[in-house]
Amino acid sequence: MLNQEKIKQLIELRAKAKLGGGQKRIDAQHAKGKMTARERIEMLLDEGSFEEFDMFVTHRCTNFGMEETKFLGDGVVTGHGTIDGRVVYVFAQDFTVFGGSLSETYAQKICKVMDIAMKVGAPVIGLNDSGGARIQEGVTSLAGYTEIFQRNIMASGVIPQLSAIFGPCAGGAVYSPALTDFIVMSKENSYMFLTGPKVVKGVTGEVVTDAELGGAVVHGSKSGVSHFIAEDEKEGILLLRKLLSYLPQNNLEDAPLVPCDDPIDRLEESLNTIIPDNPNKPYDVKDVIHAIVDNHEFLEVHRNYAPNIVVGFARFDGVSVGIIANQPAYLAGVLDINASRKAARFVRFCDAFNIPLVTLEDVPGFLPGTAQEYGGIIIHGAKLLYAYGEATVPKITIVLRKAYGGAYCVMSSKHLRGDINYAWPTAEIAVMGPKGAIEVLQSKKISSIEDPAEREEFVKKSEDEYKDQFANPYNAAKYGYIDDVIEPRNTRFRIIRALKSLATKKEVNPPKKHSNIPL
Ligand code: HXC
Repeated sequence: MLNQEKIKQLIELRAKAKLGGGQKRIDAQHAKGKMTARERIEMLLDEGSFEEFDMFVTHRCTNFGMEETKFLGDGVVTGHGTIDGRVVYVFAQDFTVFGGSLSETYAQKICKVMDIAMKVGAPVIGLNDSGGARIQEGVTSLAGYTEIFQRNIMASGVIPQLSAIFGPCAGGAVYSPALTDFIVMSKENSYMFLTGPKVVKGVTGEVVTDAELGGAVVHGSKSGVSHFIAEDEKEGILLLRKLLSYLPQNNLEDAPLVPCDDPIDRLEESLNTIIPDNPNKPYDVKDVIHAIVDNHEFLEVHRNYAPNIVVGFARFDGVSVGIIANQPAYLAGVLDINASRKAARFVRFCDAFNIPLVTLEDVPGFLPGTAQEYGGIIIHGAKLLYAYGEATVPKITIVLRKAYGGAYCVMSSKHLRGDINYAWPTAEIAVMGPKGAIEVLQSKKISSIEDPAEREEFVKKSEDEYKDQFANPYNAAKYGYIDDVIEPRNTRFRIIRALKSLATKKEVNPPKKHSNIPL
């Protein structure tokens, strides 16, 4: 073959590989409202930055006449490119080739990009759209999955790992995304479950659809498996790009600084009146978050799951932070099992990747009751306690209103190595609220008063005394547990100054094989 013919052959082979499972299957993919693997990568990465690996890989399977059907690339597109100029490694499963099902060689392609990403310290982004293990390959496919899982585990806490689910994701295939840091699901066409509706019906008799069993809404609100619900694939891809802007390349770096014009000393007058005089009245803590962060921009994680706690990313004077805020507008901001798990996972992610934590506290306590106790609130609440206590990144806490009981301890208190703990003058820091406290402390006296009016007056007087003594920030400030009581409108400035003062913080936990967080 002449050299020119060799070049022509290369061009033809490339064109063939780019067609994946062929035009007919690409059309079928589009007809479902889905993009192809390559279209998704194009949209994800900076224009023209994609460098593809292993385009000529084919499977080695000879079962079921498979040697007759080989597609270049074998069902997954892999390589690297840039997002906002920063290197990332990617793989996108190609549903047009054997339904995106995973073969031995396909797994090797994914492992290759994961291995290089670990060596260079760059994030890995996986775009999932697959029928699971390639049935014809049997155990080599299962082995391939497990090789990926092992790499997910080794990469955990070293490089950010992001997953998008843009199609089916069934069986053990869900476990690779589950081992990554964040999962984005598109509302249309995507689902995740261990066993599909047919198996569910056979085993339990329950009749459910794909979406009811494992759609984006279910995983974004009920199970918490998915961190973000996107309207469609495009929104999901843009979300991945945005999420990455808050994250460092790896655990040895800081997140990129994003300078902005928002003045650091911007006073936010609305905050001086945001807390209602009646302590039982709610307000939306997201109004506080939006008011204090750079350009009012907040990327909320797990928006629809456990809304009694709000977590997400924002910036203060360009510095990326993780915000954790109790939400009085939902269940009074109480800490329950789901809220504890949600926040603990987020705190640990931020700590692993050097992202400072800003905690906004207004929490009446842990949710009481048998449902919570039987569900193991003790263990789950301990996760959050553990996560905060273990974290060595800068930790800034602002007590906005209630900080009662165990919840005071848990929410990044001074005693869990909180670095800077401020309170608004509206803060109430005590073992419990006035009503509960007086019921316990004065129960004998209350029941001894026969006249109802007299009894009511006594209770009110006792509660008022308790409030004066405990439902304020000054008692805690007296002990140095609160570093300063600040005017709410100054909160942005005080947080920025706190972050600057802590920028060189170094704190190291004792050496150990690994910690034993209550799971
Ligand atoms: C081989 C597969 C396949 C698979 C789909 N295909 N899944 N080939 N192995 N697992 C092929 C189909 O034969 C078809 O080939 C093409 O992909 C598209 O599939 P369709 O069924 O036509 O598409 P659709 O109607 O959209 O349905 C998609 C689907 C369905 C829901 C994913 O194909 C399906 O249920 N597949 C099986 C899912 C499954 O049970 N997988 C194993 C899970 S267990 P042609 O040639 O017609 O285009 C598992 C264990 C992993 O994954 C354990 C790890 C620890």
